Amino acid sequence: MEIQDQMIVGEEGIVIKDLYYVLMKCGYGNARKCKNLIKKKMVLVNHMYIVDPLYQVSYDDHIIINQQNIRWPFVYYMLNKPKRYICANYDKQWPCVIDLIQEKDCYCLGRLDKDTTGLLLITNDVNLSKKLLLPQNHVLKTYFVTVDSVLKESLIEDFLSGIMIDFSIKCQSARLEIIDSFHCYVTLSEGKYHQVKKMFLSCGYHVIELKRTNFANISLDEQLKEGEYRSLTKDEFQKLENLLFHKRKGL
Ligand code: URA
Repeated sequence: MEIQDQMIVGEEGIVIKDLYYVLMKCGYGNARKCKNLIKKKMVLVNHMYIVDPLYQVSYDDHIIINQQNIRWPFVYYMLNKPKRYICANYDKQWPCVIDLIQEKDCYCLGRLDKDTTGLLLITNDVNLSKKLLLPQNHVLKTYFVTVDSVLKESLIEDFLSGIMIDFSIKCQSARLEIIDSFHCYVTLSEGKYHQVKKMFLSCGYHVIELKRTNFANISLDEQLKEGEYRSLTKDEFQKLENLLFHKRKGL
């Protein structure tokens, strides 16, 4: 897949940011320095001097500072995580998913185990990732699970009622959809360490393959081979924005 051919989220002005934050992200210094640059009339947006550091800008806007055009600095990617890669920026022993991304300074939006494959969102937008990872946001995640013995129908009810893991921790209600004897989808609204594996273990099953297929209503693009990534589309990004907007409004 040609990464460059993918649409950059924000092309249609969805991603809206404070002007000073965009300058910071472009390397013009810390918040105070960037706010001062703006107040001193050193920044043009669409050929007009802007003096409000909180002025809202998007991908569409033409920003100039010191006669230099600014390149929109935020990226939002979907990666199909391969096995044997860990969700970190650096590790002594194992390759990291961030090594698969050309862009610098990116972070994983949440974590998958080393042997888990599938959908992982990656961004350099720290604010967005912080908000999305707040436990109270209950972002839904769906996994395709392969287990080692025949799945019982009664598991559906057990998962709905809340499985106990680590002897005393009760998980929130989860949805289980059995596909065949050894395969199912499970949807969770929380993300405890090794949660899916532990939930199945509590019920007497070993997870032998785990693949995340959906995160925050965004589905893994099945065209992406393991290790490939692309920018989120406008619609996909809008799902993240909607989720945060609804949470802010307490909906
Ligand atoms: N649950 C797990 O057990 N592992 C993952 O990678 C994600 C969820």
